[in-house]
Amino acid sequence: MKKTSMILDVDTGVDDAFAVLFAARHPEINLLGITCVDGNTNVDQVIENTLKVLDAAGAADIPVARGAVRPLLGKSQYAEYVHGADGMGDLGIAPSSRKVDPRSAVELLRDLIEESSEPVTLVPMAPLTNIALFLRAFPETAKKLHRIVLMGGSASAGNATAAAEFNVWHDPEAAAIVFQSGIPITMYGLDVFMRPGATSEDAAQLRKSPDPAAQFAATLIEAFIERLHVSPITLGDYGAVASAIRPQLFTTEIFDVVVDTSQGPARGQTICDRRAAFLKALEPNDLSDAASVRVTLDLDVEAVEQLWFKTIDKQWL
Ligand code: BDR
Ligand code: CA
Repeated sequence: MKKTSMILDVDTGVDDAFAVLFAARHPEINLLGITCVDGNTNVDQVIENTLKVLDAAGAADIPVARGAVRPLLGKSQYAEYVHGADGMGDLGIAPSSRKVDPRSAVELLRDLIEESSEPVTLVPMAPLTNIALFLRAFPETAKKLHRIVLMGGSASAGNATAAAEFNVWHDPEAAAIVFQSGIPITMYGLDVFMRPGATSEDAAQLRKSPDPAAQFAATLIEAFIERLHVSPITLGDYGAVASAIRPQLFTTEIFDVVVDTSQGPARGQTICDRRAAFLKALEPNDLSDAASVRVTLDLDVEAVEQLWFKTIDKQWL
């Protein structure tokens, strides 16, 4: 079986947890390591949450490294209103006995990419601060990446603001560096992010499994439904991981994309030039820093959901 060698960058995060559970357990993913960053909550809490998820996944020792404590320029702006005071649904789970890797996030990224015998797919699902720092610290290593599949941005509306998606809005300068890196980028943004979901019925189904990962997933789903008063809740960041290994389930198009780093109301917006070719030729835009990005616009929701449930719960029918 051909495996995808993968590194995740997270701000765990309820939906990051869904993604980590999946990546740690899917047989076609060789999860090399996880880097943590300031985002949904502070980086130390992100580390604690991530180690707990790896425990629940029954994962082997996967290195988890500490990354940036704040965005490149702006201040930290947490999403506790969505993810809870601890950033992961306030489940009251005991701390993990796993230890954080002694290397910094950028050092771990360097070592894992250099040591990998296969090209590595990097899947950031958090503000892009770590990735921008890595690109600046180790550009030659970064060139060895196979590609970046990131959760972030939007070709339509925002969520953190009317214009901007949370991960890009949290650190637009970092996002601009990553988008302009020249590394092939697939953007899994708000155009699809909310669509794969889980319901209370799904949680009840997971509860029937004796597997601790399924039990943990059920607890997360129930807590998220209760917190947000909505069902289904999104599997969120998980979709980016799914698209990295099952691109055939996703519809993408390549657009010129610019990250707005102004201080105006569009700060953090990913401006996607979706105009027809003849219009672009008539009116060339001034998106001088535009990057050519593969943008995800649609997906097979049912198939993507089933992929997650069947990976988390081997008994899922
Ligand atoms: C993104 O913001 C975070 O709250 C989620 O984990 C996801 O990565 C969605 O905008
Ligand atoms: Ca996230």
